[in-house]
Amino acid sequence: MRIALGVTGGVAAYKAAELTRRLQQEKLDIQVIMTRSAREFITPLTFAALTGQKVITEMFGKESNATPNVESAIEHIAVAQRIDLLVVAPATADILAKFAQGIADDFLTTLYLATKAPVVVAPAMNVNMWENAATQNNIATLKSRGVHVVDPDEGYLACGMTGSGRLAGIETIAKEVCKVLGLRHDLENETILITAGPTCEDLDPVRYLTNRSSGKMGYALATAAQRRGAKVILVSGPTDLQTPEGVDWIPVRTTKQMREAVLERAKESTIIIKAAAVADYRPVAQSQQKIKRSTGEHLVLELEPTPDILAELGRTKSSQVLIGFAAETENVAASARKKLTTKNADMIVANDVTQAGAGFDTDTNVVTLYLRDHREIALPKMTKFQVADKILDQALELRPQTK
Ligand code: CTP
Repeated sequence: MRIALGVTGGVAAYKAAELTRRLQQEKLDIQVIMTRSAREFITPLTFAALTGQKVITEMFGKESNATPNVESAIEHIAVAQRIDLLVVAPATADILAKFAQGIADDFLTTLYLATKAPVVVAPAMNVNMWENAATQNNIATLKSRGVHVVDPDEGYLACGMTGSGRLAGIETIAKEVCKVLGLRHDLENETILITAGPTCEDLDPVRYLTNRSSGKMGYALATAAQRRGAKVILVSGPTDLQTPEGVDWIPVRTTKQMREAVLERAKESTIIIKAAAVADYRPVAQSQQKIKRSTGEHLVLELEPTPDILAELGRTKSSQVLIGFAAETENVAASARKKLTTKNADMIVANDVTQAGAGFDTDTNVVTLYLRDHREIALPKMTKFQVADKILDQALELRPQTK
C-alpha cells in the first residue's frame, strides 16, 4: 500500500522521521512531501535515505528557477491517484487553515485537494495557537469533512509553555493510520484460500460458456485478508483486475483447472472462501475446430454438470472454515440455507443479484451471511472491501469452533 506523508514546518518535524520508520514496519510504501518551512527544520535527505525515494519539495520541479516540465506540473495528480492515504505529521496551524479553506499554493495543499484518499492530520503547535478559535474552527471544518485528526498531547512545549500542542505519540499516529487503512493483524496465523471470477468452458477454439462475474468480490477479499496479515492464495478465473500485491495468485480458466488448484492448496488453508462464480455446466464434447454455421438449422449443445468444488471441499474438509457464496435471483434465504447444508459449508454469503448495488461488476454489494447456528446477518449496502472485512470478521469468529 502507498501513502503520502506530508511534513510541515514545526519543531516536531524531526519526529516525522521516526514516524516514517514506524510506518515502514507496516510494509507501507511512503512518499514524503515537505513544505518549504519543514525544510528549515529537517532536510529532505533524511527522508530520502529512509524511504529510498525522492522527496517532493516543490510544485514545479526541483530547482525553483528551473523550467517547469509537464511531468512535475501534474505530479500532484499522479501522487493523488496513487496513494491509499495522506497523513500530515506534524501539521502546523497554517496547513490546517489552508486545508480548511481549500488554498492550493504548494505541492502538499494541492495534493490534499486532488486526492480522494482518506486524510489523517496530527497537529503540533504552540498551545495558544492550538486553542485559538481560528484553529479550532479549522479543525472542526476538517473533521466535518471526514479528515481524521490525531489530537495533540499536553505537556512541555518547545516554546517553553506547557499545555496542549505537542505532536501526539508516534505509536498513536501510526495506530490511527493503520485503523483508517484497515490494517489489522488479526489474520496473521491464517492461510486463506480464495476463489474469484468466473470459469470458462470452451465450446470450440473461439467460443466459450461463462457468466458475468467480474471477480471484484473475490479480489476485495484477497486484498482485505492480505492487509490483515493472512497468507492469501487467490485462485482466479479470467478477470480484468490487477493482481493484489503480496498474494499467491493462481490463474485458471476452466472449472476443472479451478478444482485441481483448489484441492491442491486446500490442505494448507485454514479458511476457504469460494467467491468464484463457477460454470455449472460444460459442453460434453469440445470441438477441435470452429463450429460452422449451417443456415436454417438449430444448434443443440449437450452440456454436462461440472464438479461442485465447494461440495467436494465440504465432504473432505477437516478443520477449515468453509465459506461459499450464493448469487440468487429469487428465494435468496431458502436457497442459501439449502446450500449451507448440501455443501456442508460453515457460512453462505448470499446476495440477490437483481437488487441495485449488488452482484456482478458493481463496486458495492448487499449481502446476508447465513450461519449454521441459524443466525442471519443482513448487511446494508457497502463497498465490496467493507463486505470483505465483515466476511473475514465472521470467518475468524468461526475459526475456534472448528479448530
Ligand atoms: N460452486 C462450486 N462449484 C460449482 C458450482 C458452484 O464450488 N461447480 C460454489 C460457488 O463458488 C459458490 C457456491 O458453490 O461458493 C454456490 O454457487 P452457486 O452458483 O450460487 O450455486 P450452485 O451450487 O451452482 O446452485 P444453483 O446454480 O442451483 O443456484
